[in-house]
Amino acid sequence: MKRIAVLTSGGDSPGMNAAIRAIVRSGASHGLEVFGVKGGYSGLIAGDIVRLGVRDVGGIIGRGGTILGTTRCERIKSEAGQMGALRQLQERDISSLVVIGGNGSQAAACELSRRGLAVAGVASTIDNDLVGSDPTIGATTAVDIALEAIDRLRITAASHNRVFLVEVMGRDGGHLALAAAIAGGAESVVVPEVETHPESVAGEIRAAYARGKSHAIVVVAEGARYDAEGLAGYFKEHSQRLGFELRLTKLGHIQRGGNPGVFDRLLATELGVAAVEHLSTGCAGVLLGRLNGRVTATPLAEVAHARKALPAQHLALATMLAH
Ligand code: F6P
Repeated sequence: MKRIAVLTSGGDSPGMNAAIRAIVRSGASHGLEVFGVKGGYSGLIAGDIVRLGVRDVGGIIGRGGTILGTTRCERIKSEAGQMGALRQLQERDISSLVVIGGNGSQAAACELSRRGLAVAGVASTIDNDLVGSDPTIGATTAVDIALEAIDRLRITAASHNRVFLVEVMGRDGGHLALAAAIAGGAESVVVPEVETHPESVAGEIRAAYARGKSHAIVVVAEGARYDAEGLAGYFKEHSQRLGFELRLTKLGHIQRGGNPGVFDRLLATELGVAAVEHLSTGCAGVLLGRLNGRVTATPLAEVAHARKALPAQHLALATMLAH
């Protein structure tokens, strides 16, 4: 019987468990023996690999995080780490690997694929910055969590006539921030992809109050040149230029810790099943994602080290609708 393994890697993302479940159960229906690697690539190099049966993944579809555990592994970037990982799989006669994760994880998957392993990636990161999938697993749930916070913050902001800087994750990209700003009706958004001076944010805040608003929500991506603390520091130093009382909320890991919503459960299930189908038909070296509404396999070589661009039309929307 053919053996495949699955691991989760990098930052956990809501829906990873749903993907693991889909891989284990669709693997079983293809007559495959499925193994789970604990602790991402570190666990793979250390040989922390266990058999996963269909009952082992019961009750996890709605749980955030990853039952396999995850790490950010530096060693997998080196030749020694990659050879060690391959050895562990060979020793167990495991011929294929599914890697559930984001950018760094898929870059390592690409290296293992270059060394001859049959690998399929499953696009999963709250940052939504992976080329090869319009939505990545977890991004929608993470934005939903940010929206819940923004909706609450607006209530207290309006009661006090305050400005709130809400910092969201996204590493060095603004996908999460932009989606949260548009869907949360923010008055201003600051993303790394657009050079934004604090004075222009101050201008947007003043304009919002001048239009009769009783509050202003500024969504700030953590990777922006002026993050929330940077902006707050600037405004403190030049307080007379802002003219409004300001508070700062960093959402941080709260965005990662939620249970997946319906969208991410379905996406994870669809991509997990597709990964197994691709591997069992000999189509490896690809990332499974959803592009233009369809499950799509993109060569890992096109995904590794690439960054998905921020949709320009969404940036324009955020500004136009802030009125
Ligand atoms: O890549 C996911 C992510 O949550 C980023 O948005 C964030 O910058 C980073 O991981 C945080 O990493 P860690 O959990 O290692 O602090």
